[in-house]
Amino acid sequence: MMVVLSIDASSFLYEEILRAKKRFEEAYRSGDYAAARASALKAAELLRELARYRPWSAGKYLEMAEEYERIAETLGEPRRVIVARGGAAEIARRRKRGGEGEEIGGLDAEFEAEAEKLVARADVSWDDIVGLEEAKKSLIEAIIYSLARPDKPVRVEPPRRFLLYGPPGTGKTMLAMAASNMLGATFFNVSVDRVLSRYVGDSPRMIAAIFRVAYRRAPSIIFFDEIESLVARRDTGREAATGVVQTFLTELDGFKSKKMEKPVIIIAATNKPWLLDEAILSRFDKKIYVPLPDKEARIQLFRLHLEKKGFEVKGITYEELAELTEGYSGRDIANVCREAVIRMLRRANPGIYEAAGRINRVETLEELRYHVEPVTREDLLEAIKRIKPPVSRKDIERYERFAENTLG
Ligand SMILES: Nc1ncnc2c1ncn2[C@@H]1O[C@H](COP(=O)(O)OP(=O)(O)O)[C@@H](O)[C@H]1O
Ligand SMILES: [Mg+2]
Repeated sequence: MMVVLSIDASSFLYEEILRAKKRFEEAYRSGDYAAARASALKAAELLRELARYRPWSAGKYLEMAEEYERIAETLGEPRRVIVARGGAAEIARRRKRGGEGEEIGGLDAEFEAEAEKLVARADVSWDDIVGLEEAKKSLIEAIIYSLARPDKPVRVEPPRRFLLYGPPGTGKTMLAMAASNMLGATFFNVSVDRVLSRYVGDSPRMIAAIFRVAYRRAPSIIFFDEIESLVARRDTGREAATGVVQTFLTELDGFKSKKMEKPVIIIAATNKPWLLDEAILSRFDKKIYVPLPDKEARIQLFRLHLEKKGFEVKGITYEELAELTEGYSGRDIANVCREAVIRMLRRANPGIYEAAGRINRVETLEELRYHVEPVTREDLLEAIKRIKPPVSRKDIERYERFAENTLG
């Protein structure tokens, strides 16, 4: 019932966070780590504040705050950046002391321990994903031909390096998770941007460690999200970034010919495929466009987030909802539904905010029952008005042009 707390009061905080995030990214990209650190700390502070305003997603915001604090810490100590004693200066010092092999081995183990931390749950099934039949088919086929054995002595090399590209919020992460789930794989969720900022200078070692751990824990899926940040950084001419692209390319090359008892599959995702150069693009066996949902898919998405969750919808059809949301991604539609449900709850429980304020024991709150009504046309229209898709017609054309010029 906490959903009734004031959302509006917190929306300005949200804007502030977006600004801090932007300042952080700009400062980081330009190499101004002191400014990046300050902005990261600011973002963390604001996120902690926001968590108080939005208790129903406090967990998420606190996690993000911690992430920013970790990044800030990393940036505060450019010499010892990163994993415990993993900085370049320290490596040099250890080498001087002799016993290089052992020491370096020890460091590799530390990076591998960090790589282990990227293992994430992937409890998404193919049925949870609306539409995207082509993408699903490609991934499922790759998994089948990786696991099953041919009935003649031939060597089939199923694609194992996938690039998913398309607008944000269209299901790329979900696809990777569903593939992992089907394969019973260890799922490595690697935000490339985060690896680059957390392991500044040491990202090549981190990337190499991720591959090693993935081979060891096979079957595995390594999901590299926001892969374009590799290149975005290379453009700024920073040495570390160039090293990481090189490592990445080398690993992808070695990957193709590597003999594997149990499959390892790489799935990379990007919202900005046009930033990737040929060197990177050519390393992927399969490049799959993950577009915005068409009308039929939008109908299914609305059903998924309303009807299938038990809500009744009044005064508007799913067909009409789909017509009103052309250009919306799956994530946008999920947000529209969430917003509409909150509106309905507020209307149905006008006194709950004050009532909850008088109760100060969790047990008593848990006994409280709140009222659920049908979600109305008005709720949904208002939510659609408030949530506008971030992707413009021109962006879409750009994705489509890229898709036309890129062999799947
Ligand atoms: N095709 C889809 N089917 C079902 N839900 C979707 C789909 N696309 C997006 N969503 C919703 O949007 C959220 C974000 O999707 P995600 O896979 O993280 O997008 P991306 O990785 O492409 O940015 C999901 O958690 C889900 O709620
Ligand atoms: Mg994603």
